[in-house]
Amino acid sequence: MTTFAHEHWSSRFAFLMAAIGSAVGLGNIWRFPFIAGENGGAAFVIIYMMTTLGIALPILMAEILIGRMGGQSPIGSMVRLARQHKKARLWAVIGWGGTIGAFVVLSYYSVIGGWALKYTTLAVSNAFAGMDGEGSGALFADFTASPLTLFFWHTAFMGINIVIVIGGLHKGIERAVTTLMPLLFLLLLGMVVYAAQTPGFDQALGFLFKADFSKVTAMTFLTAVGQGFFSVSVALGAMMTYGAYLDQSVSIPRSAFIIALADTGVALLAGLAIFPLVFTYALAPGAGPGLVFVTVPIAFGQMDNGVLVGTAFFVLLSVAAITSAISLLEPAVSWAEEKFSGGRRTATLVVGGACWLLGLASVLSFNDWSEFYPLASLGVLDGKTVFDIFDFTVTSWVQPTVGILMALFAGWVLSREDVMAALGVTRAGELWFRLWLFAIRIVCPLAILLVFASAVWPDFV
Ligand code: PHE
Repeated sequence: MTTFAHEHWSSRFAFLMAAIGSAVGLGNIWRFPFIAGENGGAAFVIIYMMTTLGIALPILMAEILIGRMGGQSPIGSMVRLARQHKKARLWAVIGWGGTIGAFVVLSYYSVIGGWALKYTTLAVSNAFAGMDGEGSGALFADFTASPLTLFFWHTAFMGINIVIVIGGLHKGIERAVTTLMPLLFLLLLGMVVYAAQTPGFDQALGFLFKADFSKVTAMTFLTAVGQGFFSVSVALGAMMTYGAYLDQSVSIPRSAFIIALADTGVALLAGLAIFPLVFTYALAPGAGPGLVFVTVPIAFGQMDNGVLVGTAFFVLLSVAAITSAISLLEPAVSWAEEKFSGGRRTATLVVGGACWLLGLASVLSFNDWSEFYPLASLGVLDGKTVFDIFDFTVTSWVQPTVGILMALFAGWVLSREDVMAALGVTRAGELWFRLWLFAIRIVCPLAILLVFASAVWPDFV
């Protein structure tokens, strides 16, 4: 079987910036704060940290490991490893599921990324000045009601993404992440320092860190697992692809730990940047998906340095989204590079173009198709738009399934000696290695099955 020679990361730093860039995205800055807000704050935060450490992190290690052992795109790697281990080709569903899942996520991720770009221009032009809740709601409603405007910003976002990925690993992805990620950290720290001086900071601390477990239900755990998977970027082939470009000398356990830690840290810092503003201006922390696009702009419109702080915030959100989008495009592009001989430019243009096209369905989901529920006639997913269906199917079905399969594959199919060698483990008795093996062989698959069971039978838990 022929193998395609992909570029490799030029340094551990470049890999870490790309992987943290993948993990830190809309999931941290847009989704985490409102999900924490809706689920009662601190209790959710604690449960989230536990499930991320116990379930998402071991799978992240497995995913990077499978990627490095395969050395190809997720599909290529899985086909190759299954063959090497004389296992059914069926294991390649891990590669296919992840790659297609990432492609679908990217199609709507780009639409929301476009909102972040648009809101950056609004912040710069002081468009939030003096706005109240109603005004902000109307601004957002008018914006999303226009297919043409959403189309424009979706195209801009996908365009940026394609330009970066066409450049290849060194001249495209590495160059982008090694400049954008430090900028992201700087902006985030600046935001937190600003927020720490507002009167609402104490209340935000209590909200994020003083747990009230009375609100915790089984559902809280499930939401936490799902959010952790999405946020840490596991089970969609993105980290597998990045792992394939990783040299032997870089430690996978250490890298995975740094990635998960940085991702969780950024989610918490995003909460510390956003909630003080929400409380200072007496806004609602449980506002849902509109939190950063509707609620937070009201605060920018009322504060003294609103243009500066607002612009910093939406640049931060855009940067976070772009560095994640890159990693969602790469799995399919790397597969197309292996499969067809057209080269990287063509591969990126075709895959990116197709994804852009699919994204139009999500653009319309907010306006012309906002009451079009395609699967309602089948009696399922009634009340869900195309956008909702894409998001729901990938995060609730594809990611958990691929996650279980990855854990089982790394835990039971790959030989223990190979895995030990790939992870740099010298004695099988090393404690962390035994814990990890136990996690991916038993704990993670069972925990995810439980998530499934309770989604299918809500009375189960
Ligand atoms: N982790 C990204 C976020 O938090 C989304 C993502 C998921 C990216 C899976 C790649 C793979 O927004």
